[in-house]
Order: sequence, then C-alpha cells, then structure tokens
Amino acid sequence: MAAAPVLSLAVVGLVSLAFIAWLTVDGLRALLARRTAERRRRTLPMRITRRDEVTGELLCLSLASTAGRLPAFSAGQHVLLEAPAGKAGRLIRRAYSLAAWQARPGHYELGIKREGKGAMTQWLWNNALAGTILNLSRPQGEFVVEPATAPLVLIGGGIGITPMRAMLHATLPGGRPVTLFHAARHTEQLLYRAEFEALARQHPQFRYIAVVSRPDANWTGRSGRLDGHAIVDAIPDAPAADYYLCAGNDMLAALRTDLQARGVAAERLHWEVFNPGTASNQASLEIVCRMPDGEKRCQSRGEPTLLATLEANAIELPSECRAGSCGVCQLGLVAGDVEWLLTPEFAVPPGNILPCVCAPRTKLELHCLDGQKML
Ligand code: FES
Repeated sequence: MAAAPVLSLAVVGLVSLAFIAWLTVDGLRALLARRTAERRRRTLPMRITRRDEVTGELLCLSLASTAGRLPAFSAGQHVLLEAPAGKAGRLIRRAYSLAAWQARPGHYELGIKREGKGAMTQWLWNNALAGTILNLSRPQGEFVVEPATAPLVLIGGGIGITPMRAMLHATLPGGRPVTLFHAARHTEQLLYRAEFEALARQHPQFRYIAVVSRPDANWTGRSGRLDGHAIVDAIPDAPAADYYLCAGNDMLAALRTDLQARGVAAERLHWEVFNPGTASNQASLEIVCRMPDGEKRCQSRGEPTLLATLEANAIELPSECRAGSCGVCQLGLVAGDVEWLLTPEFAVPPGNILPCVCAPRTKLELHCLDGQKML
C-alpha cells in the first residue's frame, strides 16, 4: 500500500527534474542568443589604410583593424558600415560586400559605387580618407559559395563584381574550374580587371570574360549586353555548373530567365541584388515597428529598401539573401503601403512583406512574426 505514494513522489521528482532541465536549457539558449545579438551589434573600428578612386564613381577602400585580429568570414558576405552621414550627423548604416577574401584576414576591402544623392556615398567620398576610422559590423550574410567540385560560374554586373572577387580568391587555391563574367558599361568601369587578367594567366582553370556595353574604340573584347545565352554558350556542360550572380535587378532578372531557359536548374542559381531598384517615393515617412517587447519608431529618408531604412536606424532584422528569395526578413504589415522593387521568389503570404525588396510608399506600421526579433 505504501508503494503508491513513493511512486507518485518519484514521478513528481522526475517531472520537476525535467522541468528544471528544460528551464536550464531554455535559459542557456536565451543567454546564447543574447550574447550572439550583442556580438553582432558590436562594431569593429577599422582604419582606412588605402583609398583608390576609379572613374570618379567607384571607391575602393582597404581597412585594417585597430583592435586585434579580424573575424574570418565566408567569401560573398557583407558588412554594415556605420557613419554619421545622416541629417545633423545622425548615424546611418549601409551594407557593402567584402571585396577580397583571405582565410585569416589581415584587412578588409570594400568597393563602393557612388549613388546619385545617396547620403552614405556622399559622406564616404568626402570623409573616407586614408587614416579615417570607420565602424563596421562583423561580416554576415548567406550569399556564400557552397563547397563543391562542379564548375563555378561567377557573374558580376557593375559593382556586383565585389562579392565575386572574394569568391574567386576563396576558390582559386582549391583548383575548382571557375569562369568569371564581368559586365560594365564602359571599359574603365571594369573594376579589378588587371588583377583578374593576371590571375587568368597564372591559373589555367580560371577564365575571365569581360563584356562592355558601350566600349571605346580600343576595346577588343566582347561588347554588348551580357545575356544568359552567351554565358551558357561559353560554359562546357553548362547545366552541371553552379552559378553565382550579383547585379542590379533588371540584369539579374534577365540572366536568371535566360539561364533557366537554357537548362540551368533553379537550385544551381544563387544570387544577390546590390540595388533592388529605386524607390519612387523619396519623402521622409514614419515607420513604426511593433515588437514583443515594445515599439520602435524611425523615419525613412529615401534609402534604397525598407531593410536599409531599418538598418540605417540601428533596427536590425535577420536577413540572408537580401534579394527576396529566402523569406528570412519577412514582417507583417499592419498598416500602410509598400512599393515592391522586384518580384520576390519567396511566396509571401498576404499581409506580409519582405523589407529587403520593398520600400515604403506611405507611413508604415509593421509587426514581427512569431518568434522573430528585431534587435
Ligand atoms: S533577406 Fe531573404 S527575403 Fe529578405
């Protein structure tokens, strides 16, 4: 008869132990998430060691750490650069791909295109001189080359060449066959051309194919618009290759359509848009973000995307592709209207938006989805 109370005591004890273990694991998980978030928010102060201006519209910066070793990163990742480029010296942030790769980086390189009235590029042109300290986030992003042996095709349009250069640096030592297509409007905009040509001479498994749409009289290479058909024609066994693309929205959309029409499977295509489009509404608009722990407000000021607006105001949202294909940045739209800058590949449920590929048309009220956090 005494066995029943003993048994129930044992059960209660086991349940309590399981509860305590669950609390501990949950607590550890929350602590880890907080630490990771804090680490991501912390900026790296870096000194500009070299500044090169190309054609007055491209700026190449080399930056060295002022505080010990730099974090290693995967080729194709980007950093958020923070600078007092907003109105009245307000801090704003912009994402830039890391343009060079080393297994143990001694410095970071950025390639920056001058955008007409872009507050950050104006600020960088005037202030990012040798010796200046800039604050960068740790490298982040999921647009990275997967390890494989299949031939690799890298396609960079304009300033979209920057992550391609890092991917090339990371891939060449392994001997994987690589073809780099580089499209530009004018010959002098072929950033890093001399380096790519030298690498092609040194590495027989690497081909560099530059295409210029408005060449000068001395240009002897390919001219015209780079299209997917020309790419497939240049790649032996094109359907078996992996393709990584970074370009403006129009070029990217056309290339993806052409490549798929020529038999390249969707899973072999990986891409990132460096500028999804131009928001038609450049007015300052209020953005209200409702989060589980309260509300944050900020103003859009003509940033290229809503994600850029949030990041410019130090509201960090998880993001991976930054091109409308993964759905990671998805938010609920409570009120207001957005402009879609490109048609996302991700199937967005009604009432949700992808801030990486849209911009506000009106004042917006947004809310985080279950389990999502803005930092
Ligand atoms: S970050 Fe992938 S859809 Fe926005």
